[in-house]
Amino acid sequence: MSNLMSNYYPLEVTFVKGRGCWLTDTSGIEYLDALSGIGVVNLGHSHPAITKSIVDQSKELLHTSNVYRIANQEKLATRLCNLANMDKAFFSNSGAEANEAAIKIARLYARSKNIHNPIVLTANKGFHGRTMATLSATGQSKVQEGFAPLMSEFVHVDFDDIDAINKYSKNKDVVAVMLEPVQGEAGVIIPQSDYLNRVQILCEQNEWLYILDEVQAGMGRTGRLFAHQHNKITPDILCLAKGLGNGVPIGACLAKGKAAEMLTPGTHGSTFGGNPLVTGVASSVLDVFENDLILDNVMKMSQYFESEFKSKIMSSSVVRELRIKGLMIGIGLDENIIDCSKLTQKALEDKLLINITGNSIRMLPPLIISKKEIDILIKKIIKLITI
Ligand SMILES: Cc1ncc(COP(=O)(O)O)c(C=O)c1O
Repeated sequence: MSNLMSNYYPLEVTFVKGRGCWLTDTSGIEYLDALSGIGVVNLGHSHPAITKSIVDQSKELLHTSNVYRIANQEKLATRLCNLANMDKAFFSNSGAEANEAAIKIARLYARSKNIHNPIVLTANKGFHGRTMATLSATGQSKVQEGFAPLMSEFVHVDFDDIDAINKYSKNKDVVAVMLEPVQGEAGVIIPQSDYLNRVQILCEQNEWLYILDEVQAGMGRTGRLFAHQHNKITPDILCLAKGLGNGVPIGACLAKGKAAEMLTPGTHGSTFGGNPLVTGVASSVLDVFENDLILDNVMKMSQYFESEFKSKIMSSSVVRELRIKGLMIGIGLDENIIDCSKLTQKALEDKLLINITGNSIRMLPPLIISKKEIDILIKKIIKLITI
């Protein structure tokens, strides 16, 4: 029995140590981590440069509050804005809070246009967080159940269906479109290659803010630092978290143009958001991306995984499809043949950490994964889906 609230249902395992793609439990047994703490520890566990950054910064200063200027925060804002072609940054502690900032910006944008009942178009099956605003934006009833009344401004349309968005072109109350470039919690749903570009055109034509939630797909996960860079577009607002801190809690809401001017003194804030520790660590994360050519590894390992999967697993009658973008991996299985609800536990027994979403295996392995580790992963997946 524990004194924790019952909102989680953890697996019966406790980890005490992590190195690279591997976690060690209380009995000293090692597990291959193909989930990275749900897409967080992208540079692997205990990356020496990140550990050093945490130690060095904690010896100097952890926290002062946003009542004072924070040098690390200003540096990180400049760096992220340069990398993402954005103008301004707000730092939060989580992905949901980064999205909350985006939603508040959309509200202020509505006010600036004299729109009093704004609509934000979001996608069915999308996931944006667990706060009241972000669960309202989320397109999954299981996340919303029991929490009505929800915020009414979110109207859900089918993902990867440009006509579904285009239908709202004459609606004067729409102020923004908020999407994940690849739907993560839905099980890695990759839209057609020009979908994000076509949404961008509609947003420009209608003066809607284009909000991309890259909390899961960003920070190198898909092989570009930001997933939308595959499409050579720039949104008005870009939300990041998870891999930005490689395990320290930090989120960012980046904005450009009009969207960047909406927050004025007193309109938003956070006690912890962007403190010297987390912003220093996030800068070190960006250093590692540059110094260790992480994005190159993502593309190479993505191709290697795909070719190994196609030659060794794809022909299995259990497998329906492989959905892969960088190291964001979804494997659709045939539920009539295999009981997907048992697979997380079965994988755990084989010392493999994965996630199951509906009838899909979802994997977000550390971006530093090697060929050797992918070989182990492929073997473990074969064992997992062999009935
Ligand atoms: C796309 C997306 N947005 C937002 C969130 C919420 O982030 P957090 O749990 O840090 O609040 C998640 C978390 O899984 C996510 O995948």
